[in-house]
Order: sequence, then C-alpha cells, then structure tokens
Amino acid sequence: MSDSVLVIGHRGAAGLTPENTKLAFLKALDLGADAIEFDVQLTKDNVCIVFHDESLDRTTDGKGFVADTTWEVISRLDAGRWFAESFRGIEVPRLEEILKTLGGRTTLNIEFKPDKGREERLVRHVITAVARFDLWESVLFSSFDMPSIELLRRLVPKARIGVLCVPHKLADALALAEKVGAETIHPHVGMVDSDFVQDAHRRGWKVWAWTANEPGEIELLKALGVDGIFSDYPDRVVNPRKRRS
Ligand code: G3P
Ligand code: CA
Repeated sequence: MSDSVLVIGHRGAAGLTPENTKLAFLKALDLGADAIEFDVQLTKDNVCIVFHDESLDRTTDGKGFVADTTWEVISRLDAGRWFAESFRGIEVPRLEEILKTLGGRTTLNIEFKPDKGREERLVRHVITAVARFDLWESVLFSSFDMPSIELLRRLVPKARIGVLCVPHKLADALALAEKVGAETIHPHVGMVDSDFVQDAHRRGWKVWAWTANEPGEIELLKALGVDGIFSDYPDRVVNPRKRRS
C-alpha cells in the first residue's frame, strides 16, 4: 500500500472551513495538504473569482448567478456565515489574490468552470494571471469543459494538465488526455479499481481520485495505488506518521 499519496485539499479544506476561500486553503496547508484544488469562473464584468456553484445562493448571503452579478456586488457578500456563524465576514476571493498569497507555496489545481459563451475568455484570463505570477511549474489545470482544456493546450504548450473523468464520458476523457498530453487523470472515486490505475500508469498518467472523505474509502484508494486523493478533509488522507503535531 502506498503511503506517499499526494494529498489534495478539495476546495481547500471544504469539510472544515467555508470552501474556496483563502481561509480554507490555508487550513488545508496547515493540515498537511500537498496541493490545493479550487474552481474559477467569471463575474458579469469579467473578474475571475474562486467559486464553485453557478449560483451564489448556497455559499454566500447573495442570490442569483455569478455570471449575472458584478464583482462590486460579489465582493460585498459574506462567504462564511452559511457554513457557521464563527466564519462570518469571509469574502469570495479573486483568482489573483489567491495566486499572490499561495503561488509558489504549494501545487495549485485550478479548475475552469466556464459559463456558456465565455469559455475562451476564462481560459485566457487564467493564463494571463498564471503568467503574471510565473506559476507554470506549480499550477495544474483541469476542467469538465473539454474544449477549454484543448484551448489551453493550444495556447500554452507547457501547461500542466489533469483530465477530469466521469463514468459516462470515460472514452472521451481518455482520448482528451492522450491528445493534450495530460500529466494526471482525475477519476471520480467510484470509477477507480486496479485495472483503471494500471491502465492509466501504463499510459503515463498519474491518477488523482476525487473526492474521498471516508477513512475506509481513502484506505481503499491508497491500496489501489492512486497517486493523489482529493479530500474535503485533507488531514484524513495525510499519513499519520507525517502529520503535524
Ligand atoms: O476536481 C475534482 C472535483 O473538484 C470536481 O468536482 O464539482 O467538486 O468541482 P467539483
Ligand atoms: Ca472542483
């Protein structure tokens, strides 16, 4: 069994802190995560924010779609209180703010979540930001939107790419990973078995599985030989011998 699996804080440490916030990312690092995963999308006025849902409703005190709301409005929302009263006052971060704070400190997995019609704009925006902070070596990109990944590859031959994989689109994902020269493949945990891992390794891809939170599931993934595990509770994945006291 591997005890050197890469620990990827999913949306930071989303099980313990409000997801996709600076606090969640710092918490994940504090718990021993080796990498941080987060989602990016554009506001109505093309500001790139770190945010998962299309809608503001679940994780802020705002309402409506991100794509229909300006940064001026989103910047005033509370992104912590929905999680617990003690997190009141936490803000939605902009991509640049996170790159400035965490860039170079850890591996960052940036997942494009484009709204329809602005796929290219989002990819170009993120590329510009990553170039500005010169983070090509420590950023790995992924997206469920396959054309965004193909565009990224055309624009940045050196970009590190992870290809997301869901059961009903497995063949497409494998073809994309071949086409763009992926470094990693990111299957949903339910897809992972030893054949999957062996096949990916034979093709030269590391396997990062998402999202495992239960100890039994985490142990199984380690036993299957995956290379990375996304978790909302990164501390549950960290090898106990490596845990910080
Ligand atoms: O990148 C793995 C995982 O984050 C994909 O699903 O919905 O949590 O963005 P989701
Ligand atoms: Ca994600």
